[in-house]
Amino acid sequence: MAARPRALRLAVLASGRGSNLQAILDAIATGTLDAEVAGVFSDQPEARALQRARDAGVHAEALPATGFPSREAFDAAFFARVDAVRPDLVVCAGYMRIIGAPAVEARVGHMLNIHPSLLPAFKGLRTHRQALAAGVGEHGASVHFVTPDLDGGPVLAQVRVPVLAGDDEAALAARVLAREHPLLLAALRLLAGGRVALRERVVHLDGAPLAQPLQLTANDGFA
Ligand code: GAR
Repeated sequence: MAARPRALRLAVLASGRGSNLQAILDAIATGTLDAEVAGVFSDQPEARALQRARDAGVHAEALPATGFPSREAFDAAFFARVDAVRPDLVVCAGYMRIIGAPAVEARVGHMLNIHPSLLPAFKGLRTHRQALAAGVGEHGASVHFVTPDLDGGPVLAQVRVPVLAGDDEAALAARVLAREHPLLLAALRLLAGGRVALRERVVHLDGAPLAQPLQLTANDGFA
Protein backbone atom coordinates (compact mmCIF):
# COMPACT_ATOMS: atom_id res chain seq x y z
CA MET A 1 0.00 0.00 0.00
CA ALA A 2 1.57 3.31 -1.01
CA ALA A 3 1.49 6.35 1.28
CA ARG A 4 -1.97 7.81 0.98
CA PRO A 5 -3.04 11.39 0.48
CA ARG A 6 -6.22 10.98 2.54
CA ALA A 7 -7.34 9.13 5.65
CA LEU A 8 -7.76 5.37 5.30
CA ARG A 9 -11.45 4.56 4.81
CA LEU A 10 -12.56 1.68 6.98
CA ALA A 11 -15.65 -0.49 6.85
CA VAL A 12 -16.02 -2.28 10.18
CA LEU A 13 -17.95 -5.56 10.45
CA ALA A 14 -19.20 -6.48 13.92
CA SER A 15 -21.76 -8.90 15.30
CA GLY A 16 -21.97 -7.88 18.94
CA ARG A 17 -20.57 -5.70 21.69
CA GLY A 18 -18.32 -3.58 19.52
CA SER A 19 -15.56 -2.70 21.97
CA ASN A 20 -12.93 -3.00 19.24
CA LEU A 21 -15.03 -0.71 17.05
CA GLN A 22 -15.25 1.74 19.95
CA ALA A 23 -11.47 1.72 20.31
CA ILE A 24 -11.21 2.65 16.62
CA LEU A 25 -13.81 5.40 16.89
CA ASP A 26 -12.15 6.83 20.01
CA ALA A 27 -8.69 6.78 18.43
CA ILE A 28 -9.99 8.61 15.37
CA ALA A 29 -11.82 11.14 17.56
CA THR A 30 -8.71 11.86 19.59
CA GLY A 31 -6.51 12.11 16.52
CA THR A 32 -4.36 9.07 17.28
CA LEU A 33 -5.49 7.11 14.21
CA ASP A 34 -5.52 8.74 10.79
CA ALA A 35 -8.56 6.93 9.44
CA GLU A 36 -12.26 7.33 8.88
CA VAL A 37 -14.99 4.79 9.61
CA ALA A 38 -17.08 4.94 6.46
CA GLY A 39 -19.62 2.44 7.74
CA VAL A 40 -20.34 -0.28 10.28
CA PHE A 41 -22.11 -3.43 9.11
CA SER A 42 -23.61 -6.25 11.09
CA ASP A 43 -25.46 -9.50 10.57
CA GLN A 44 -27.14 -8.87 13.95
CA PRO A 45 -29.70 -6.03 14.09
CA GLU A 46 -29.37 -5.81 17.88
CA ALA A 47 -25.59 -5.59 17.90
CA ARG A 48 -24.37 -2.93 20.31
CA ALA A 49 -21.75 -2.07 17.75
CA LEU A 50 -24.45 -0.49 15.56
CA GLN A 51 -25.52 1.88 18.32
CA ARG A 52 -21.89 2.77 19.05
CA ALA A 53 -21.50 3.72 15.40
CA ARG A 54 -24.67 5.80 15.34
CA ASP A 55 -23.64 7.55 18.56
CA ALA A 56 -20.44 8.55 16.78
CA GLY A 57 -22.37 9.78 13.75
CA VAL A 58 -21.20 6.88 11.61
CA HIS A 59 -23.36 5.10 9.03
CA ALA A 60 -24.51 1.76 10.44
CA GLU A 61 -26.65 -0.99 8.99
CA ALA A 62 -27.62 -4.57 9.69
CA LEU A 63 -28.50 -7.33 7.30
CA PRO A 64 -29.60 -10.57 8.98
CA ALA A 65 -28.71 -13.76 7.13
CA THR A 66 -32.18 -15.28 7.52
CA GLY A 67 -34.01 -15.88 4.26
CA PHE A 68 -30.96 -16.02 2.04
CA PRO A 69 -30.72 -19.29 0.12
CA SER A 70 -26.96 -19.68 0.56
CA ARG A 71 -23.90 -18.20 2.24
CA GLU A 72 -22.82 -16.81 -1.12
CA ALA A 73 -26.18 -15.10 -1.67
CA PHE A 74 -26.02 -13.47 1.75
CA ASP A 75 -22.40 -12.40 1.30
CA ALA A 76 -23.20 -10.86 -2.08
CA ALA A 77 -26.00 -8.74 -0.59
CA PHE A 78 -24.00 -7.87 2.53
CA PHE A 79 -20.82 -6.88 0.72
CA ALA A 80 -22.77 -4.86 -1.84
CA ARG A 81 -23.67 -2.63 1.10
CA VAL A 82 -20.13 -2.61 2.40
CA ASP A 83 -18.74 -1.77 -1.04
CA ALA A 84 -21.20 1.10 -1.35
CA VAL A 85 -19.18 3.08 1.23
CA ARG A 86 -16.00 2.52 -0.84
CA PRO A 87 -13.72 1.25 1.93
CA ASP A 88 -9.96 0.96 1.49
CA LEU A 89 -9.96 -1.72 4.17
CA VAL A 90 -12.60 -3.98 5.72
CA VAL A 91 -11.99 -4.68 9.42
CA CYS A 92 -13.69 -7.69 10.97
CA ALA A 93 -13.92 -6.69 14.64
CA GLY A 94 -15.99 -9.38 16.29
CA TYR A 95 -17.80 -10.35 13.08
CA MET A 96 -18.89 -13.87 13.92
CA ARG A 97 -20.23 -15.08 10.57
CA ILE A 98 -18.04 -17.15 8.32
CA ILE A 99 -17.51 -15.28 5.06
CA GLY A 100 -17.60 -17.53 2.00
CA ALA A 101 -14.60 -17.95 -0.26
CA PRO A 102 -15.85 -15.82 -3.19
CA ALA A 103 -16.39 -12.74 -1.00
CA VAL A 104 -13.05 -13.27 0.72
CA GLU A 105 -11.07 -13.87 -2.46
CA ALA A 106 -12.39 -10.63 -3.92
CA ARG A 107 -10.91 -8.73 -0.96
CA VAL A 108 -7.68 -10.51 -0.08
CA GLY A 109 -5.20 -7.89 1.08
CA HIS A 110 -8.04 -5.51 1.90
CA MET A 111 -9.70 -7.34 4.76
CA LEU A 112 -8.33 -7.78 8.30
CA ASN A 113 -9.62 -9.78 11.24
CA ILE A 114 -8.82 -9.65 14.92
CA HIS A 115 -8.90 -13.08 16.50
CA PRO A 116 -8.58 -13.79 20.23
CA SER A 117 -5.69 -16.26 20.19
CA LEU A 118 -2.05 -16.54 19.21
CA LEU A 119 -2.69 -17.94 15.76
CA PRO A 120 -2.18 -20.57 14.47
CA ALA A 121 -3.22 -21.82 17.93
CA PHE A 122 -6.91 -21.99 18.78
CA LYS A 123 -8.80 -21.14 15.64
CA GLY A 124 -12.59 -20.93 15.62
CA LEU A 125 -14.80 -20.23 18.61
CA ARG A 126 -14.33 -20.24 22.40
CA THR A 127 -10.64 -19.61 22.09
CA HIS A 128 -10.20 -18.77 25.79
CA ARG A 129 -11.81 -22.05 26.76
CA GLN A 130 -9.55 -23.82 24.27
CA ALA A 131 -6.48 -22.14 25.78
CA LEU A 132 -7.45 -23.08 29.33
CA ALA A 133 -8.18 -26.67 28.28
CA ALA A 134 -4.78 -26.89 26.58
CA GLY A 135 -3.03 -25.64 29.72
CA VAL A 136 -0.92 -23.03 27.91
CA GLY A 137 0.95 -20.44 29.96
CA GLU A 138 0.56 -17.73 27.35
CA HIS A 139 -2.41 -16.63 25.27
CA GLY A 140 -3.25 -13.50 23.32
CA ALA A 141 -4.71 -12.07 20.14
CA SER A 142 -3.76 -11.80 16.48
CA VAL A 143 -4.51 -9.38 13.66
CA HIS A 144 -4.39 -11.17 10.33
CA PHE A 145 -5.35 -10.73 6.72
CA VAL A 146 -8.46 -12.72 5.85
CA THR A 147 -8.11 -15.53 3.32
CA PRO A 148 -10.51 -18.39 2.59
CA ASP A 149 -8.57 -20.48 5.12
CA LEU A 150 -10.66 -19.72 8.24
CA ASP A 151 -8.52 -17.92 10.84
CA GLY A 152 -5.54 -19.07 8.79
CA GLY A 153 -4.62 -15.94 6.86
CA PRO A 154 -1.20 -14.28 7.15
CA VAL A 155 -0.70 -12.75 10.59
CA LEU A 156 0.45 -9.13 10.79
CA ALA A 157 0.69 -8.66 14.54
CA GLN A 158 0.06 -10.29 17.88
CA VAL A 159 -0.16 -9.46 21.57
CA ARG A 160 0.70 -11.92 24.32
CA VAL A 161 -0.84 -12.14 27.77
CA PRO A 162 -0.09 -14.57 30.57
CA VAL A 163 -2.54 -17.23 31.63
CA LEU A 164 -2.67 -16.99 35.41
CA ALA A 165 -3.42 -19.62 38.03
CA GLY A 166 -7.12 -19.52 38.83
CA ASP A 167 -8.11 -17.97 35.49
CA ASP A 168 -11.54 -18.83 34.22
CA GLU A 169 -12.79 -18.10 30.71
CA ALA A 170 -14.16 -14.68 31.66
CA ALA A 171 -11.00 -13.52 33.42
CA LEU A 172 -8.79 -14.64 30.56
CA ALA A 173 -11.11 -13.12 27.94
CA ALA A 174 -11.05 -9.78 29.75
CA ARG A 175 -7.24 -9.77 29.95
CA VAL A 176 -6.97 -10.52 26.25
CA LEU A 177 -9.66 -8.00 25.23
CA ALA A 178 -7.89 -5.19 27.07
CA ARG A 179 -4.85 -5.82 24.88
CA GLU A 180 -6.82 -6.41 21.67
CA HIS A 181 -7.71 -2.75 21.47
CA PRO A 182 -4.15 -1.38 21.42
CA LEU A 183 -3.12 -4.24 19.13
CA LEU A 184 -5.79 -3.42 16.57
CA LEU A 185 -5.00 0.29 16.72
CA ALA A 186 -1.27 -0.26 16.30
CA ALA A 187 -1.92 -2.50 13.30
CA LEU A 188 -4.31 0.01 11.75
CA ARG A 189 -1.77 2.81 12.21
CA LEU A 190 0.70 0.83 10.12
CA LEU A 191 -1.93 0.35 7.42
CA ALA A 192 -3.02 3.98 7.61
CA GLY A 193 0.60 4.96 7.11
CA GLY A 194 0.77 2.88 3.95
CA ARG A 195 3.45 0.68 5.52
CA VAL A 196 1.79 -2.72 5.17
CA ALA A 197 0.83 -4.70 2.09
CA LEU A 198 -0.02 -8.29 1.31
CA ARG A 199 1.93 -9.60 -1.68
CA GLU A 200 1.57 -13.20 -2.83
CA ARG A 201 -0.19 -13.78 0.48
CA VAL A 202 2.89 -12.68 2.43
CA VAL A 203 2.70 -9.68 4.75
CA HIS A 204 5.17 -6.98 3.78
CA LEU A 205 6.21 -4.16 6.10
CA ASP A 206 7.98 -1.18 4.58
CA GLY A 207 8.43 -3.22 1.40
CA ALA A 208 10.09 -6.25 3.02
CA PRO A 209 8.48 -9.59 3.82
CA LEU A 210 7.64 -10.03 7.47
CA ALA A 211 9.41 -13.12 8.80
CA GLN A 212 7.15 -13.38 11.83
CA PRO A 213 4.21 -11.45 13.25
CA LEU A 214 4.99 -8.14 14.92
CA GLN A 215 4.67 -8.34 18.71
CA LEU A 216 2.94 -5.56 20.64
CA THR A 217 5.05 -4.35 23.55
CA ALA A 218 3.90 -3.14 26.97
CA ASN A 219 4.01 0.48 25.77
CA ASP A 220 1.75 -0.41 22.83
CA GLY A 221 4.45 -0.18 20.17
CA PHE A 222 5.85 -3.06 18.16
CA ALA A 223 9.05 -4.88 19.09
C1 GAR B 1 -13.14 -9.98 20.34
O1 GAR B 1 -12.54 -10.67 21.40
C2 GAR B 1 -12.65 -10.50 19.02
O2 GAR B 1 -11.29 -10.86 19.03
C3 GAR B 1 -13.51 -11.71 18.85
O3 GAR B 1 -14.78 -11.31 19.26
C4 GAR B 1 -14.63 -10.30 20.27
C5 GAR B 1 -15.44 -9.11 19.85
O4 GAR B 1 -15.45 -8.15 20.88
N1 GAR B 1 -13.53 -12.17 17.49
C6 GAR B 1 -13.66 -13.44 17.16
O5 GAR B 1 -13.79 -14.33 17.97
C7 GAR B 1 -13.65 -13.70 15.68
N2 GAR B 1 -13.61 -15.09 15.42
P1 GAR B 1 -16.02 -6.71 20.60
O6 GAR B 1 -17.37 -6.90 19.88
O7 GAR B 1 -16.20 -6.10 21.95
O8 GAR B 1 -15.01 -5.99 19.76
